[in-house]
Amino acid sequence: MKSIIVHGGAWDIPDDMLEDHHNGVSNALSAGWDILKKGGSALDAVEAAINVMEDDPTFDAGRGSFVNMAGQIELDASIMDGRTMRAGAVAAVRNILHPITLARAVMDKSEHVLLVSDGAMRFAREQDIPFCGADDLLVGREFERWKEIQTRPAYSGKEAFAGNTKPGDTVGCVALDDEGTIASGTSTGGTPNKYPGRVGDSPIIGSGTYAVNSVGGVSTTGWGEAIIKVVLAKSIIDAIDMLNMSPEDAAQHGISLLHTRVEGYGGVIVLDRHGHFGIAYNTPRMARAYVNDTMSEPFISV
Ligand code: GLY
Repeated sequence: MKSIIVHGGAWDIPDDMLEDHHNGVSNALSAGWDILKKGGSALDAVEAAINVMEDDPTFDAGRGSFVNMAGQIELDASIMDGRTMRAGAVAAVRNILHPITLARAVMDKSEHVLLVSDGAMRFAREQDIPFCGADDLLVGREFERWKEIQTRPAYSGKEAFAGNTKPGDTVGCVALDDEGTIASGTSTGGTPNKYPGRVGDSPIIGSGTYAVNSVGGVSTTGWGEAIIKVVLAKSIIDAIDMLNMSPEDAAQHGISLLHTRVEGYGGVIVLDRHGHFGIAYNTPRMARAYVNDTMSEPFISV
Protein backbone atom coordinates (compact mmCIF):
# COMPACT_ATOMS: atom_id res chain seq x y z
CA MET A 1 0.00 0.00 0.00
CA LYS A 2 1.58 3.30 -1.09
CA SER A 3 2.01 5.49 1.99
CA ILE A 4 3.94 8.57 3.07
CA ILE A 5 4.38 10.42 6.35
CA VAL A 6 6.30 13.65 7.03
CA HIS A 7 7.22 15.71 10.07
CA GLY A 8 8.30 19.32 10.48
CA GLY A 9 9.61 19.18 14.03
CA ALA A 10 8.32 18.67 17.57
CA TRP A 11 8.43 21.57 20.05
CA ASP A 12 6.24 24.25 21.56
CA ILE A 13 5.34 25.68 18.14
CA PRO A 14 3.90 29.14 18.84
CA ASP A 15 0.36 29.99 17.75
CA ASP A 16 1.57 32.50 15.17
CA MET A 17 3.64 29.81 13.42
CA LEU A 18 0.93 27.13 13.31
CA GLU A 19 -0.34 28.00 9.85
CA ASP A 20 3.15 28.04 8.32
CA HIS A 21 3.89 24.63 9.84
CA HIS A 22 0.55 23.25 8.66
CA ASN A 23 1.14 24.52 5.12
CA GLY A 24 4.77 23.41 5.15
CA VAL A 25 4.10 19.78 6.01
CA SER A 26 1.09 19.75 3.68
CA ASN A 27 3.20 20.97 0.73
CA ALA A 28 5.93 18.46 1.52
CA LEU A 29 3.43 15.61 1.72
CA SER A 30 1.92 16.60 -1.64
CA ALA A 31 5.33 16.66 -3.32
CA GLY A 32 6.15 13.16 -2.08
CA TRP A 33 2.66 11.75 -2.68
CA ASP A 34 2.62 13.02 -6.29
CA ILE A 35 5.71 10.91 -6.96
CA LEU A 36 4.32 7.79 -5.27
CA LYS A 37 0.96 8.12 -7.04
CA LYS A 38 2.72 8.09 -10.42
CA GLY A 39 4.53 4.88 -9.48
CA GLY A 40 7.75 6.67 -8.44
CA SER A 41 10.15 5.33 -5.85
CA ALA A 42 10.03 5.83 -2.09
CA LEU A 43 13.53 7.31 -2.23
CA ASP A 44 12.46 9.94 -4.78
CA ALA A 45 9.37 10.73 -2.68
CA VAL A 46 11.41 11.19 0.50
CA GLU A 47 13.97 13.40 -1.21
CA ALA A 48 11.28 15.54 -2.87
CA ALA A 49 9.25 15.98 0.33
CA ILE A 50 12.34 16.98 2.30
CA ASN A 51 13.54 19.34 -0.44
CA VAL A 52 10.24 21.23 -0.07
CA MET A 53 10.81 21.69 3.67
CA GLU A 54 14.49 22.63 3.12
CA ASP A 55 13.28 25.40 0.79
CA ASP A 56 10.62 26.55 3.28
CA PRO A 57 12.03 29.13 5.77
CA THR A 58 9.56 27.90 8.41
CA PHE A 59 11.74 24.91 9.31
CA ASP A 60 15.16 24.27 10.82
CA ALA A 61 16.44 22.63 7.64
CA GLY A 62 18.08 24.24 4.62
CA ARG A 63 16.76 27.82 4.46
CA GLY A 64 15.60 28.95 7.92
CA SER A 65 18.09 26.85 9.89
CA PHE A 66 19.49 27.77 13.30
CA VAL A 67 22.78 29.65 13.50
CA ASN A 68 25.70 28.11 15.39
CA MET A 69 27.92 29.73 18.03
CA ALA A 70 30.30 31.00 15.34
CA GLY A 71 27.50 32.68 13.39
CA GLN A 72 27.47 29.98 10.69
CA ILE A 73 24.80 27.59 9.49
CA GLU A 74 25.93 23.95 9.47
CA LEU A 75 23.52 21.32 8.18
CA ASP A 76 23.08 17.57 8.74
CA ALA A 77 21.01 15.05 6.77
CA SER A 78 20.62 11.34 6.11
CA ILE A 79 18.64 8.98 3.90
CA MET A 80 18.21 5.19 3.93
CA ASP A 81 16.90 2.66 1.43
CA GLY A 82 15.09 -0.15 3.26
CA ARG A 83 15.35 -2.56 0.33
CA THR A 84 19.14 -2.66 0.17
CA MET A 85 19.91 -1.05 3.55
CA ARG A 86 22.14 1.38 1.71
CA ALA A 87 22.42 4.69 3.52
CA GLY A 88 24.00 8.10 2.96
CA ALA A 89 24.55 11.01 5.32
CA VAL A 90 26.30 14.36 5.60
CA ALA A 91 27.09 16.45 8.64
CA ALA A 92 28.24 20.00 9.33
CA VAL A 93 27.99 21.08 5.68
CA ARG A 94 27.75 24.76 4.81
CA ASN A 95 26.27 26.65 1.85
CA ILE A 96 24.11 23.78 0.63
CA LEU A 97 20.37 24.34 0.43
CA HIS A 98 19.47 20.67 -0.03
CA PRO A 99 21.67 18.53 2.23
CA ILE A 100 19.25 15.57 1.78
CA THR A 101 20.18 15.54 -1.92
CA LEU A 102 23.86 15.50 -0.99
CA ALA A 103 23.18 12.65 1.49
CA ARG A 104 21.51 10.73 -1.32
CA ALA A 105 24.53 11.31 -3.56
CA VAL A 106 26.76 9.89 -0.81
CA MET A 107 24.50 6.80 -0.75
CA ASP A 108 24.24 6.42 -4.52
CA LYS A 109 27.65 7.53 -5.71
CA SER A 110 30.20 6.80 -3.01
CA GLU A 111 31.31 3.74 -1.08
CA HIS A 112 30.77 5.58 2.21
CA VAL A 113 27.82 6.21 4.51
CA LEU A 114 28.74 9.48 6.25
CA LEU A 115 30.84 12.41 4.99
CA VAL A 116 31.36 15.52 7.10
CA SER A 117 32.23 19.17 6.69
CA ASP A 118 34.94 19.99 4.12
CA GLY A 119 35.07 16.43 2.76
CA ALA A 120 31.31 16.37 2.25
CA MET A 121 31.48 19.77 0.52
CA ARG A 122 34.32 18.58 -1.71
CA PHE A 123 32.15 15.59 -2.66
CA ALA A 124 29.24 17.95 -3.34
CA ARG A 125 31.39 19.90 -5.83
CA GLU A 126 32.45 16.68 -7.57
CA GLN A 127 28.80 15.63 -7.87
CA ASP A 128 27.62 19.05 -9.12
CA ILE A 129 25.34 19.53 -6.12
CA PRO A 130 24.42 23.25 -6.15
CA PHE A 131 26.00 25.57 -3.58
CA CYS A 132 24.32 28.70 -2.23
CA GLY A 133 25.40 31.76 -0.32
CA ALA A 134 25.22 31.82 3.48
CA ASP A 135 22.58 34.53 3.10
CA ASP A 136 20.38 32.15 1.15
CA LEU A 137 20.10 29.96 4.27
CA LEU A 138 19.83 32.70 6.89
CA VAL A 139 16.44 34.22 7.73
CA GLY A 140 15.81 37.28 9.90
CA ARG A 141 14.03 35.26 12.59
CA GLU A 142 17.12 33.11 13.17
CA PHE A 143 19.56 36.03 13.03
CA GLU A 144 17.51 37.75 15.74
CA ARG A 145 17.43 34.55 17.81
CA TRP A 146 21.20 34.17 17.49
CA LYS A 147 21.83 37.78 18.55
CA GLU A 148 19.54 37.34 21.55
CA ILE A 149 21.31 34.13 22.60
CA GLN A 150 24.68 35.91 22.55
CA THR A 151 23.41 38.07 25.41
CA ARG A 152 22.92 34.88 27.51
CA PRO A 153 26.31 33.18 28.00
CA ALA A 154 24.73 30.30 29.96
CA TYR A 155 22.55 29.21 27.06
CA SER A 156 22.84 25.52 26.18
CA GLY A 157 20.96 23.03 24.02
CA LYS A 158 20.20 20.98 27.11
CA GLU A 159 18.63 23.95 28.83
CA ALA A 160 16.64 24.67 25.69
CA PHE A 161 15.22 21.20 25.24
CA ALA A 162 14.78 20.38 28.92
CA GLY A 163 12.69 23.53 29.24
CA ASN A 164 10.67 22.09 26.40
CA THR A 165 9.99 25.54 24.98
CA LYS A 166 12.78 25.96 22.49
CA PRO A 167 12.48 25.22 18.79
CA GLY A 168 13.24 21.89 17.16
CA ASP A 169 12.11 22.13 13.57
CA THR A 170 14.08 19.26 12.05
CA VAL A 171 12.20 17.75 9.10
CA GLY A 172 11.77 14.15 7.98
CA CYS A 173 9.85 11.74 5.80
CA VAL A 174 9.20 8.00 5.48
CA ALA A 175 7.59 6.50 2.37
CA LEU A 176 6.51 3.09 1.07
CA ASP A 177 6.24 2.58 -2.70
CA ASP A 178 4.50 0.13 -5.06
CA GLU A 179 7.50 -2.16 -5.01
CA GLY A 180 7.34 -2.51 -1.22
CA THR A 181 10.44 -0.38 -0.66
CA ILE A 182 10.53 1.79 2.43
CA ALA A 183 12.80 4.86 2.48
CA SER A 184 13.43 7.29 5.34
CA GLY A 185 15.19 10.63 5.49
CA THR A 186 15.87 13.49 7.89
CA SER A 187 17.36 16.98 7.44
CA THR A 188 18.23 19.65 10.00
CA GLY A 189 20.15 22.75 10.93
CA GLY A 190 20.68 21.21 14.37
CA THR A 191 20.22 23.18 17.57
CA PRO A 192 20.42 26.94 18.18
CA ASN A 193 23.90 28.22 19.00
CA LYS A 194 25.46 24.75 18.72
CA TYR A 195 29.23 24.42 18.96
CA PRO A 196 30.87 24.54 15.49
CA GLY A 197 31.21 20.99 14.22
CA ARG A 198 28.51 19.68 16.54
CA VAL A 199 26.66 16.77 14.93
CA GLY A 200 23.21 15.75 16.12
CA ASP A 201 21.10 12.63 15.64
CA SER A 202 19.72 13.45 12.19
CA PRO A 203 22.70 12.20 10.10
CA ILE A 204 23.34 9.22 12.39
CA ILE A 205 21.85 6.09 10.85
CA GLY A 206 19.85 4.35 13.57
CA SER A 207 19.32 7.52 15.60
CA GLY A 208 17.71 10.05 13.23
CA THR A 209 16.84 7.77 10.33
CA TYR A 210 16.32 4.05 9.79
CA ALA A 211 14.60 1.84 7.21
CA VAL A 212 14.40 -1.88 6.58
CA ASN A 213 11.81 -3.25 4.19
CA SER A 214 10.86 -6.28 6.29
CA VAL A 215 9.88 -4.05 9.24
CA GLY A 216 9.42 -0.32 8.52
CA GLY A 217 11.03 3.09 8.60
CA VAL A 218 11.48 5.91 11.12
CA SER A 219 12.54 9.58 11.19
CA THR A 220 13.08 11.44 14.46
CA THR A 221 13.17 15.03 15.68
CA GLY A 222 14.09 16.66 18.96
CA TRP A 223 17.11 16.99 21.21
CA GLY A 224 19.86 15.18 19.29
CA GLU A 225 22.22 14.58 22.21
CA ALA A 226 19.48 12.54 23.93
CA ILE A 227 18.20 10.83 20.76
CA ILE A 228 21.68 9.51 19.90
CA LYS A 229 22.03 7.90 23.35
CA VAL A 230 18.93 5.73 22.92
CA VAL A 231 19.54 5.06 19.19
CA LEU A 232 15.94 6.10 18.80
CA ALA A 233 15.04 5.19 15.20
CA LYS A 234 16.54 1.69 15.40
CA SER A 235 15.04 1.11 18.86
CA ILE A 236 11.59 1.73 17.38
CA ILE A 237 12.25 -0.61 14.45
CA ASP A 238 13.42 -3.29 16.92
CA ALA A 239 10.24 -2.86 18.96
CA ILE A 240 8.14 -3.60 15.85
CA ASP A 241 10.41 -6.42 14.75
CA MET A 242 11.17 -8.21 18.02
CA LEU A 243 8.38 -7.17 20.38
CA ASN A 244 5.70 -7.35 17.68
CA MET A 245 4.48 -3.84 18.49
CA SER A 246 2.21 -1.83 16.20
CA PRO A 247 3.79 1.32 14.72
CA GLU A 248 1.72 3.43 17.16
CA ASP A 249 2.88 1.45 20.19
CA ALA A 250 6.49 1.35 18.94
CA ALA A 251 6.48 5.14 18.45
CA GLN A 252 5.20 5.61 22.00
CA HIS A 253 7.74 3.09 23.30
CA GLY A 254 10.54 5.09 21.62
CA ILE A 255 9.45 8.39 23.15
CA SER A 256 9.09 6.73 26.53
CA LEU A 257 12.68 5.38 26.27
CA LEU A 258 13.87 8.84 25.27
CA HIS A 259 12.22 10.45 28.27
CA THR A 260 12.81 7.90 31.00
CA ARG A 261 16.41 6.97 30.14
CA VAL A 262 17.90 10.33 29.16
CA GLU A 263 15.27 12.98 29.95
CA GLY A 264 14.95 13.65 26.23
CA TYR A 265 12.26 15.51 24.32
CA GLY A 266 11.23 15.04 20.74
CA GLY A 267 8.98 13.28 18.28
CA VAL A 268 9.00 10.37 15.85
CA ILE A 269 7.20 9.28 12.71
CA VAL A 270 6.95 5.57 11.89
CA LEU A 271 5.70 3.64 8.87
CA ASP A 272 5.52 -0.16 8.90
CA ARG A 273 5.84 -2.51 5.93
CA HIS A 274 2.04 -2.68 5.61
CA GLY A 275 1.74 1.11 5.29
CA HIS A 276 0.45 1.72 8.82
CA PHE A 277 1.51 4.89 10.60
CA GLY A 278 2.78 5.67 14.09
CA ILE A 279 3.44 9.08 15.63
CA ALA A 280 4.51 10.02 19.15
CA TYR A 281 6.00 13.11 20.80
CA ASN A 282 6.46 14.45 24.30
CA THR A 283 6.59 18.12 23.30
CA PRO A 284 3.53 20.37 23.29
CA ARG A 285 3.19 20.20 19.51
CA MET A 286 4.50 18.36 16.46
CA ALA A 287 3.94 19.24 12.80
CA ARG A 288 3.03 16.05 10.91
CA ALA A 289 1.07 14.82 7.92
CA TYR A 290 0.38 11.46 6.28
CA VAL A 291 -1.62 9.83 3.53
CA ASN A 292 -1.97 6.37 2.00
CA ASP A 293 -4.01 4.61 -0.69
CA THR A 294 -6.97 4.02 1.61
CA MET A 295 -7.44 7.69 2.59
CA SER A 296 -9.54 10.15 0.59
CA GLU A 297 -7.83 13.14 2.27
CA PRO A 298 -4.43 13.48 3.93
CA PHE A 299 -4.19 13.84 7.69
CA ILE A 300 -2.39 17.12 8.59
CA SER A 301 -1.92 18.43 12.12
CA VAL A 302 0.33 20.66 14.18
N1 GLY B 1 17.37 16.62 16.15
C1 GLY B 1 18.18 17.56 15.54
C2 GLY B 1 19.41 17.84 16.25
O1 GLY B 1 19.48 17.72 17.47
O2 GLY B 1 20.37 18.18 15.61
